[in-house]
Amino acid sequence: MSTFATTLINWQRSHGRHDLPWQTRDAYRVWLSEIMLQQTQVDTVIPYYGRFLERFPDLPSLAAAPVEDVLTLWSGLGYYARARNLHKCAQAVMGRHGGVFPADPAVLAELPGIGRSTAAAISAFSYGTRAAILDGNVKRVLARAFGIEGFPGTKPVESSMWQLAESLLPASDVDIYTQAQMDLGATVCTRGRPACSRCPLATTCVALKDGRVADLPTPRPKKITRQRSGRFAVILANGTVLLERRPPAGIWGGLQSLPELPEDADTADWVSARYGLTVRGVTPLAGFRHVFTHFTLELQPEAVEVAGPPVACTEAGAVWHPLERLDEAALPAPIRKLLEQLERRDLFSPP
Ligand code: ADE
Repeated sequence: MSTFATTLINWQRSHGRHDLPWQTRDAYRVWLSEIMLQQTQVDTVIPYYGRFLERFPDLPSLAAAPVEDVLTLWSGLGYYARARNLHKCAQAVMGRHGGVFPADPAVLAELPGIGRSTAAAISAFSYGTRAAILDGNVKRVLARAFGIEGFPGTKPVESSMWQLAESLLPASDVDIYTQAQMDLGATVCTRGRPACSRCPLATTCVALKDGRVADLPTPRPKKITRQRSGRFAVILANGTVLLERRPPAGIWGGLQSLPELPEDADTADWVSARYGLTVRGVTPLAGFRHVFTHFTLELQPEAVEVAGPPVACTEAGAVWHPLERLDEAALPAPIRKLLEQLERRDLFSPP
């Protein structure tokens, strides 16, 4: 037997929890507790569990009840799909399995509300079946004890954890071992401030040895919202604004837009070189942000005043567009918003 399992079983006997109301071999009671304990803490579950069993002492009474009564007793526990599935599951066990919960975890896992880990727990507690659990607590214990990197919510990390969990199963006392993992995760190897000095796995724990207890399990990757900034030239003349078609790739591909200035370019030099225009002055305008799905764009507009009648714009794809007909231009939303704001503030009217 693995040292891991032996250590946990011995620890459970002396330090684990032995007085939880669902520590019984009655599959109905075990099942009910495991469903209530999905996403809910032991202390919260205990009073609900007692009230529930008073009203529904066995599977037939639950299966025969109106779902509304089940929901009423569940009220306050949250995640009400659990209550609806519980009721459906009771009826399925009555109808398909003659009122007896199947012992095979794979068959249990076909019932409403019972996933792979819950099926294993029900089977191990009720029938002593040799089946591995892998809930949030166990993932945390395994990640630390074996130094497993990577967010356990991803398929590859989860699959390797399932394999590891299967390989660690003891030959006997699976019920004690299963409870041990749950108890260790809930009382010692907790998410914040784990009590490593009281941990039976401390001598072999990879995370403890490497000083990585606080880093494991690897947290869910943060959604990266990148920041980008762009300088945009608002080049105005005779009631028109210079628009240029964006390149087909990248943001706003193929749309018309205000010319985007290169990051370090001098505005006057760049505008005169690119468009063959004489620049009289440049005025920074108020910047604003536009949020895309994957990044935020900080728009920094600059008003560029050009000299003379600007008929000769030499850059291909650039056009002078009448400000009154902005609605006809294929503009990206934030550029349209900017131009409309400027129009309202009368920036475009001649001095
Ligand atoms: N969490 C899930 N199942 C549990 C159980 N049987 N005992 C304590 N906590 C649990």
